[in-house]
Amino acid sequence: MKEMFKNDTPINYEVVTRKVKEMGLASVGKASIREIKRLIDLIEQETGDRFIRMEMGIPGLAAPEIGINAEIEALRNGVAAIYPDIDGTPELKREISRFVKNFLDIDVNPASCIPTVGSMQGSFASFLTLSRMTPGRDTTLFIDPGFPVHKQQHKVLGQKFESFDVYDYRGEKLRDKLESYFAKGNIHSVLYSNPNNPSWICFTDDELRIIGELASKYNVVICEDLAYFGMDFRKDYSKPGVPPFQPTVAKYTDNYILFISSSKVFSYAGQRIGMMVISDKLFNCRCEALKPHFNTDIFGRAMIFGTVYALSSGTSHSAQYALAAMLKAVNDGEFNFIENVKVYGEKAQIMKKLFTDNGFRIVYDTDIDKPIADGFYFTISYPGYTGEQLIEELVYYGISAISLAITGSGRTEGLRACVSLVHPDQFPALEERLKKFYAHNS
Ligand SMILES: Cc1ncc(COP(=O)(O)O)c(C=O)c1O
Repeated sequence: MKEMFKNDTPINYEVVTRKVKEMGLASVGKASIREIKRLIDLIEQETGDRFIRMEMGIPGLAAPEIGINAEIEALRNGVAAIYPDIDGTPELKREISRFVKNFLDIDVNPASCIPTVGSMQGSFASFLTLSRMTPGRDTTLFIDPGFPVHKQQHKVLGQKFESFDVYDYRGEKLRDKLESYFAKGNIHSVLYSNPNNPSWICFTDDELRIIGELASKYNVVICEDLAYFGMDFRKDYSKPGVPPFQPTVAKYTDNYILFISSSKVFSYAGQRIGMMVISDKLFNCRCEALKPHFNTDIFGRAMIFGTVYALSSGTSHSAQYALAAMLKAVNDGEFNFIENVKVYGEKAQIMKKLFTDNGFRIVYDTDIDKPIADGFYFTISYPGYTGEQLIEELVYYGISAISLAITGSGRTEGLRACVSLVHPDQFPALEERLKKFYAHNS
């Protein structure tokens, strides 16, 4: 920042510089999401100034009463004292199966629908099981950009992964790129999120078809992370049993595991409950290599009675009642879960405009030929800045975000902005701060 502007930043220059130093961060731009959160907490406490907080993907809405009431009732009925079945309560399994039929238009047996301790446990359990399925296949492929914690899971497990940024491989180009990895023979599975955290790109049906066809051809399992289920608001995916349906790879291959988080779509992050939906074919498939680890060669049994048993012995009993009640209401057409979260898209539309009006660019800006949707996240850059430099700078303007560099994105000039915690009453402050940043930088 130029010397002459140091007296003119929205947040006190001296305090920000001191707090960064005290945190001992080598660089704000390289800090993890939680480190940035702590830094901003400390600056807010000392200055009393409220930041435009866009660093963390936390739901900004209240959890639905339907879930809360069902959970309280279950607790009053005594479920806290009882171990849940490892693979979930029958009622919940049935509602998950109905949910994927109603909103993805796919048929999955309730037996293959398993609640997990957040969708993070579902992915952890899957990587653990999938990596033992076929000798020689020891590597996960990430279609990036992505959620950094999935890579953290690999590091914790000591497992291998490869990745590429999909930015330059949209559409038909995805085929050759994926095939170049699959042909090597070491990939057991692929993980991506759709809609994508952090870029909010949404794969088209053509792209999902390519992924599905190659998964079947090379016998690679597709782990599709639907943490933002239905939240591509360009289409209305909210009516049970009625098209359009949330696009999914499950339409194009029977070699898949879906992770459906309840954290964002049901604002139920605190109770740590998600859904793992395994295709019936994969659930029942037999793999000799599983036996030494799991005492069974059946994939679904290895997953439940091997991995999930060993990790947590199931998922919180009362939270299962909450999720079952919310899903039942949604499946019965009594609760429009997508209407509830549309506000994220409305905020994104306004916030993106405030940024682009003030010299910023949207980094991941299209789904091939269509402008990107407005949703939970968007990506920004400013000419002349790397993402790292931009975060360092924006902190002085009371704006926080994370660098795309930590998400596996090749677009190192970019930042991820999350809309959920920004209240509309902060839009004037955001505009004022962005105007100042623009003035200082043009
Ligand atoms: C892409 C993605 N997957 C998974 C998760 C975590 O989901 P859960 O809270 O169900 O563990 C998140 C949360 O931010 C996410 O963005």
